[in-house]
Amino acid sequence: MLRIAVQSKGRLFEETSTMLAESSIKVDGGKRTLLVKAKNFPVEILYLRDDDIPQVVAAGIADVGIVGENEFEEKGEDAVIIKRLDFSKCRLSLAIPESIDYPGVQWFNGKKIATSYPNILKRFLDKNNIKAEIHEIMGSVEVAPGIGFADGIFDIVSSGSTLVSNKLREVEVVMKSEAIMIANKNLSTEKKEILDELLFRFDSYKNAEGKKYIMMNIPTNQIEAVCKLLPGMKSPTVTELATPGWSSVQSVIAEDSFWEIINQLKALGAEGILVVPIEKMIL
Ligand code: PRP
Ligand code: ZN
Repeated sequence: MLRIAVQSKGRLFEETSTMLAESSIKVDGGKRTLLVKAKNFPVEILYLRDDDIPQVVAAGIADVGIVGENEFEEKGEDAVIIKRLDFSKCRLSLAIPESIDYPGVQWFNGKKIATSYPNILKRFLDKNNIKAEIHEIMGSVEVAPGIGFADGIFDIVSSGSTLVSNKLREVEVVMKSEAIMIANKNLSTEKKEILDELLFRFDSYKNAEGKKYIMMNIPTNQIEAVCKLLPGMKSPTVTELATPGWSSVQSVIAEDSFWEIINQLKALGAEGILVVPIEKMIL
């Protein structure tokens, strides 16, 4: 049995749940129950506050955890990053009221900064020889300057809309962050095997993300030109049609590039173009 600590609510919850579901790890309950066993895979999910996940994994209470890199970096717990998960991307930034002119990082000398990430902030300030007062607060950091509690803030920025609605301006990006998977340093062989299987499933799902399977009929004399537009996984599959002079081509493409090449495909005489979703992809 492998125990995975995940965020019970908040910015990572949705994507983490989707990733588990797409890996055919079925958990119900969730949210209200702290610990839930998967029905069809030797995994159990421990739902926690994100702040607690690094420590719980380092201590071996959970074997692995899915957490924001920012939270892992802040806590400095002794666990290993085993995978970057490429979602929940954000940055940790310093921001100040938008009405203030910003001459550079020295502006923060002698200022009060509100944050939930005092350790990361302190390292940044020390590196830049800035002496500022750090006020650690747990939530609603962005309101601190407006109520006169701080001169600036150091917080997560994702879309930036929280800053805008609080009339703040991002002035220094201190670190970039995304969801990561961390693991305890002393996993047993049995747990490592379950983890490998889990990572394989995550990859199969991730590889398919944003990809489509495309099929079309083309005049056989245009095969070469069409194949140049379709990189595919190795190379496109080409089969002859019963109609003389026509072939069918199948390939995998990125959804974005489909819109770029569709007109070129049509110009080459492609007909009956079908684009279908891919659920999993094993490379
Ligand atoms: C963070 C941060 C801001 C918001 C920024 O909070 O504290 O409030 O996200 O996102 P935006 O740039 O897209 O507006 P989060 O939702 O992670 O909750 P938390 O403060 O409780 O960790
Ligand atoms: Zn948090």
